[in-house]
Amino acid sequence: MDKKKKIKVKILRYDPGKGKKPYWKFYEPEVDSDATILDVLNEIHWNIDGALAYRRSCRSAICGSCAMKVNGSNILACETPLHRFKGKALKIEPLPGFRIIKDLVVDLDSFFEKMNRVKPYLLLDKPMPDKEFVQSPEEFERIREACVCILCGSCTSSCPSLWANDEYLGPAALLKAYRFIFDTRDDGAAERIDIVNDRNGIWRCHTIFNCMEACPKHIKITEYLSRLKIKAVENSI
Ligand code: F3S
Ligand code: FES
Repeated sequence: MDKKKKIKVKILRYDPGKGKKPYWKFYEPEVDSDATILDVLNEIHWNIDGALAYRRSCRSAICGSCAMKVNGSNILACETPLHRFKGKALKIEPLPGFRIIKDLVVDLDSFFEKMNRVKPYLLLDKPMPDKEFVQSPEEFERIREACVCILCGSCTSSCPSLWANDEYLGPAALLKAYRFIFDTRDDGAAERIDIVNDRNGIWRCHTIFNCMEACPKHIKITEYLSRLKIKAVENSI
């Protein structure tokens, strides 16, 4: 059995319904030394402060619902061990750049609305094949990493271009556009390039790299957005 230890945590609390401004609340939960950030939040929620709001579901870094900012970095709470912070006190905040609904729960409607704008599904001119679409391993390799995105919002939330202009599509939606534009089975590339080739689309990306650092799946987002820019230029010539 792992030894329990008491840790120091401060969490940004906010309940717009109660009219107070966001404020820091301090806790000293006792957790296993191999606990994750989600274990810490569960301990607080279940045994200290049941009013604390946060999202989680799969506990396996798959559903993307537990993204939040801890000690300055966007992370997935369920996959991030406490020891990553080397015994420092924890400072837990909601994902930046989104409206706070309550505590660590943010409003992701705009995030998913932008995702829908790039049509995140196959667009086909040709008839559906009798069986599956055939794609070579080399063709799939071009989009493999982009397919791993779990839509947690960490990248978009970390982008200074989005903080400055809420109209920006953001890295997650642009990565999704990349994933379909470079998919050999898809026929909607021209339509999608038209959508992203805009001052609030791909050209609002200033290659800041925050998105790539924040991605819990280590997707080379900035590189794919650069390929999207080249594709947009080639299409306009
Ligand atoms: Fe933003 Fe990433 Fe571009 S942080 S500016 S989308 S490289
Ligand atoms: Fe699903 Fe963390 S709970 S990604």
